[in-house]
Amino acid sequence: MKIKIQKKIKSSKGLLVVPVFKENLKTLPATCPTVVKKFIQQVHKNKDFDTKPCTIASTYALARGLPEKVSVIGAGSNKKFNLRSAKELGGKIGKHAKKIKASQLTILLTPEIIENAQCFLEGILMSQYEVDKMKSKKKKEEEYKLMKLEVVVEKKDKTLSEALEKALIISEGVEYVKDLVNTPSNVIDVAYFEKEARTIARKNKYKLKILRNKELKKLKWGALLAVNQGSKKEANCIALQYDGAKDKKEKPVILIGKGVIFDTGGYNLKPTRHIETMHQDMAGGAVVLGVFEILKKLKIKKNVIGLIPVAENLISASAYRPSDIITSYSGLTIEITNTDAEGRLILADAITYGTKFKPESIITIATLTGAVAVALGDRYSGLIGNDRNLKRALQKAGKKTDDLGWLLPIHRDYKKKINSKVADIRNYDIGTGGYAGASKAAAFLERFVDKNKWCHIDIGGTAFTKDPKEYQTRGATAQGLEMLVKYLQDAK
Ligand code: BES
Ligand code: MN
Ligand code: ZN
Repeated sequence: MKIKIQKKIKSSKGLLVVPVFKENLKTLPATCPTVVKKFIQQVHKNKDFDTKPCTIASTYALARGLPEKVSVIGAGSNKKFNLRSAKELGGKIGKHAKKIKASQLTILLTPEIIENAQCFLEGILMSQYEVDKMKSKKKKEEEYKLMKLEVVVEKKDKTLSEALEKALIISEGVEYVKDLVNTPSNVIDVAYFEKEARTIARKNKYKLKILRNKELKKLKWGALLAVNQGSKKEANCIALQYDGAKDKKEKPVILIGKGVIFDTGGYNLKPTRHIETMHQDMAGGAVVLGVFEILKKLKIKKNVIGLIPVAENLISASAYRPSDIITSYSGLTIEITNTDAEGRLILADAITYGTKFKPESIITIATLTGAVAVALGDRYSGLIGNDRNLKRALQKAGKKTDDLGWLLPIHRDYKKKINSKVADIRNYDIGTGGYAGASKAAAFLERFVDKNKWCHIDIGGTAFTKDPKEYQTRGATAQGLEMLVKYLQDAK
């Protein structure tokens, strides 16, 4: 897509969109042509348009030289306008252009929108996403694409072009994650993950280490290996390193993303309605790859290490069983009380590995539980951890990007629920089962973090959606990516 910032409407094709705030009905931007101003006043007078957020009135062929179709869109009150509404407005406009198959889009920006330009532009760009990577070329060509975007402003300035640049970097990262998560598991397997990590490392000159089967066995990553036992393909753990801090010796932030290629549940097999979308179970790992796609481009000034344990939870003659007792990399023995509680197992070994870097903090991100979706739905990811400041900082970063998180507690009693009679710990509380499932999963992880500052982001409800926001699309959402990037950007 070509994007231009200019001071006049240049295109005579496609769609012209004029966002209108309640307060601005009479003071439309100077860039707005008189015929369009008249149209707006008329539809408003006829009560066909009331400036309520995301409501639209359209007309055709107002005048020569103008785009063929003109739509005015309500932006609500400028007093309530913020980065979230900017992102939603951008998304709404993007989807409107998509719906009418306009391949060129011209938008008149007001000062309110320019103030939130990055979010607004992200909204437009993210809304254009299509799950089309698996379509043959011919089919793809038949489909609609927005080819040209023109934003019209009274005054061009550097901050606006910088906002555009950032929006492009972020939305490309989001798209990258969405593609990984939407693509099925026969295509995205362990080796594919490794290849992606390699490409990212090469492009950005990051250090990369891949712990493969042989090394994992030698180091005794018993938990990761147990989960992968039922698969014909070998598990691995990807370790990416970015040195962005001025001081090379500054302690790194460790990001750990769950990379379960497909989660059948194992012998605790998932029912049909739950199994269908389990190719999403590597979303945490995909987000970590996405963060590394972005770190260098945004020149983030932190040292970051990304760890992605990658495995597949399948059923076969060699799969692990309920009642197995395994020894994790930390040395703790684990009774397997449920083979579907596999995410915490592969994360456990990666966390132990992470602690060896003497980190500033450890952040885990995973589609860890269905329970978090019951608690928070698909609008908030769960934030659980042992450090209030870290949790709050992540939540704040989420607020700034509309990638929201909500703090969940671990009651001290729940920490005991994963004690086992026959091993050091068990991976699932059989007794009081589903109660506080998200907290108990995190309580399991906490056993491995030692004294380190740690926060877990449970994206079990947010990684994949059937009910997208204005700027989202059905399926993968890349939630967690923007929260993490913003956190790292703002962190001291
Ligand atoms: N990957 C699932 C969690 C999940 C479910 C993510 C639905 C996204 C959508 C995880 O491995 C899992 O199976 N969790 C179980 C744990 C339970 C069986 C111990 C859950 O929360 O239902
Ligand atoms: Mn599972
Ligand atoms: Zn899982």
